Amino acid sequence: MSTQGDGLRGIVVGDTEISEVLAEGELFYRGYNIHDLADHATFEDVVYLLWNGDLPTKSQLSTFSTELAENRALPETVLNIIREFPANVSSMDALRTAMSAVGMIDPDQGDNSPEANMRKAIRMQAKIPTVVAAIERLSQGLEPISPRIDLGLAENFLFMLAGKAADPLYVKTIDNDFILHADHELNASTFATRVTVATQADIYSGLVSGIGTLSGPRHGGAALETMEMLLEIGTLDRVSEWVLPKLSGEKRTPIPGFGHPVYRAPDPRASHLREQSRLLGELHNDTKWWQITSAIEKLVDELSNTPERLAAGKQGIYANVDCFAASCYYEMGLPTRLFVPLFAISRTAGWCAHMFEQYKPGQRIIRPRAEYVGRRNAKWLDISQR
Ligand SMILES: CC(C)(COP(=O)(O)OP(=O)(O)OC[C@H]1O[C@@H](n2cnc3c(N)ncnc32)[C@H](O)[C@@H]1OP(=O)(O)O)[C@@H](O)C(=O)NCCC(=O)NCCS
Repeated sequence: MSTQGDGLRGIVVGDTEISEVLAEGELFYRGYNIHDLADHATFEDVVYLLWNGDLPTKSQLSTFSTELAENRALPETVLNIIREFPANVSSMDALRTAMSAVGMIDPDQGDNSPEANMRKAIRMQAKIPTVVAAIERLSQGLEPISPRIDLGLAENFLFMLAGKAADPLYVKTIDNDFILHADHELNASTFATRVTVATQADIYSGLVSGIGTLSGPRHGGAALETMEMLLEIGTLDRVSEWVLPKLSGEKRTPIPGFGHPVYRAPDPRASHLREQSRLLGELHNDTKWWQITSAIEKLVDELSNTPERLAAGKQGIYANVDCFAASCYYEMGLPTRLFVPLFAISRTAGWCAHMFEQYKPGQRIIRPRAEYVGRRNAKWLDISQR
């Protein structure tokens, strides 16, 4: 049976102990509800949880956080490579190339043992925020700022971007955003990392596959597209005239930041960033972007989730994690070109957890089949006859 166009939708291709996504709108990392993690954990707690299977004790967290902090600085070789990037390079092309360079000179290069992979993962997770910040600063004609080891991962990232201490609400928002984006079962980029390392390729090759896959607008670009939509709409009174034509008629145009391939109920991650967006707006005495996003959400709900449509078997359309991520980033003054790299920083946690799982003994190379539907029995023609 041909599955052309289905994109493996609904097909279970393996077991995982890392995260569980339920269509009813629930998400768990290693059995812990995402709401508990978003409310109480730090990103470092969550990275430890994803990589080691359980939450750290106080001393485990302290050791792990120190290791992450001490590995933040970039080797000069990598900084020099970044300095050579063309001025108008895309932020994800730059990130992919720079992280590949980090891998090329990793001290454990060539060693795929679990111990070496853990050391490499720590370096990746520690350095990727530094790489993103260095690329951004250099693209603005500014010198990169050295990381600080006395700050948490989220706070240090914001410090390396701006060169000054960030507002605690910004730190909380980025930390929350990183927790919420850290893992999501077999999304496209995570699957790509697993396919890569299932060949026993090294973990940086998997990371680069993940970054490349995430860069596509159908995956990592949703927050960016959402912000572009918000900027195009511009004011609250223009929401209806922009949204209504997209959702009426036979052929609907997807509204960025809404819908999800798995969830058939509200995305559990969206509520946390909705609240952060509101708080950021209040901090700046301007809740405009939160208000516009909320108005779109209300309209999408009224038009898509009617009892008639749902009874007719249509899927409910709800805000996804990127819906309010867009206004959060924008309200903190982060340029839109950073939106996808931000996602890559947090998803590195999930990619590494999945690659560890994929490297475990007994896992086979991932090699599905395709049904051949092309021409058969073609006759060889000499080049002069074609
Ligand atoms: C993510 C996405 C690709 C998932 O799509 P999917 O599960 O394959 O759903 P489909 O494209 O098959 O759509 C199913 C129905 O929901 C509707 N729908 C899905 N997403 C929608 C959206 N964002 N806005 C309006 N309607 C949407 C479709 O029009 C379709 O309706 P129909 O049955 O009347 O034709 C899709 O929701 C989308 O493009 N969203 C916008 C981009 C985005 O935010 N991506 C990030 C996801 S985390």
